[in-house]
Amino acid sequence: MIQSAATVMERCEILGAISEESGILVRPYGSESMRRVNEIVAGWMRDAGMTVRSDAIGNLIGRYEARKEGGGTLVLGSHLDTVRDAGRYDGPLGVLVALACVECLNASGERLPFAVEVAAFADEEGLRFGTTFLGSSAFACTLEPGLLDLTDGDGVRVAEAVHAFGGDPDALARADRSPNDLIGYCEVHIEQGPVLERLGLPVGVVSAIQGQSRVGVGFVGEAGHAGTVPMEGRRDALPAAAEFVLAVEEAARRQEGMVATVGTIEAHPGAGNVIPGEATLSLDLRHGDDGVRGSALQALRERAKEIARARSLESSWRVRQESKAVPTSPDLTELLARAVEEIGLPAHRLPSGAGHDAAEVAAIAPVAMLFVRCERGISHNPAESVEEEDVAVAVETISRFLALLAGERG
Ligand code: GLV
Ligand code: MN
Ligand code: MN
Repeated sequence: MIQSAATVMERCEILGAISEESGILVRPYGSESMRRVNEIVAGWMRDAGMTVRSDAIGNLIGRYEARKEGGGTLVLGSHLDTVRDAGRYDGPLGVLVALACVECLNASGERLPFAVEVAAFADEEGLRFGTTFLGSSAFACTLEPGLLDLTDGDGVRVAEAVHAFGGDPDALARADRSPNDLIGYCEVHIEQGPVLERLGLPVGVVSAIQGQSRVGVGFVGEAGHAGTVPMEGRRDALPAAAEFVLAVEEAARRQEGMVATVGTIEAHPGAGNVIPGEATLSLDLRHGDDGVRGSALQALRERAKEIARARSLESSWRVRQESKAVPTSPDLTELLARAVEEIGLPAHRLPSGAGHDAAEVAAIAPVAMLFVRCERGISHNPAESVEEEDVAVAVETISRFLALLAGERG
């Protein structure tokens, strides 16, 4: 497992150097860097005895056949896209640990009673279109057709991007596979939080993934000359956006368990001596209880309208994404916990504050997740860091999980 972990770490470095921009890691859906990464990972998959295909959105899927046909398929995986100025492990670690486990099977010529697929999803972060899980929702056939009309910063529609990436937007509504064949999905991911580090544990077992909403919010007033238009009567869109940002922060601080973030804000037309006629911002709001999240979202929508009214502006509200909270499968999670305990470690259970592909795949299969400790819980940041020894524990846990599942189904 130590050797496998070293390989996983080396590969994270290799993939982490493949970016749209030099100096930072940024790999959005459908980009040239994503194409290169897919080619490299496809090569590693083939070397591990897998057959490789791309589905209708460009998810890369390697398949290691079962001992004999008809035993079903277990899917392991995570994503290969990144946020802007990303770390090297959020996503790729899960794909590469899965691949390492298949390499171990292939090296000893071992076949399981079920096939193992490694899925490398093409969009989890939602960097390009402001909506997450395009890859895994296509895989699970839950991608809402309306999303195909969302546009990126250059006005390119999702459907056009899918086509340009070699996919088939018309096939997205059709299942790539029969869900009856699926035994489950298991994802390894960095924790992205400080809990495991505080407990001194290399890995933990995920109990649930909290729900999230992503909204594009806009305020429209009137642009004008910064020097000549008196303060009285201005219809400046940016102070409205500023007021809304503070309202978001206050709402999340008031509600136990809620986190809310405005991660982007833009003033248009965007010149130092022009009153902003328009301001747009992103809202990301999360809570473990979908009812609480829904009410908070509604309250913030009303707040945006009030802020706009008081300043004689128009406001707009476009929900780009709603993901429900997802509990992990009790059966698969129990098996994962046993695998951790077999190594001699306590199987600490913890919820996930971040979204994961597992949340989408849960629509068609039972899911489980293993978190790997990361330094100071830092993620979505180039300082993301994991220890090779912890990665070795993850490879060993997933290998044992496969063996336990094989024992149950064999
Ligand atoms: C994915 O990283 C998320 O935003 O939760
Ligand atoms: Mn992420
Ligand atoms: Mn991720």
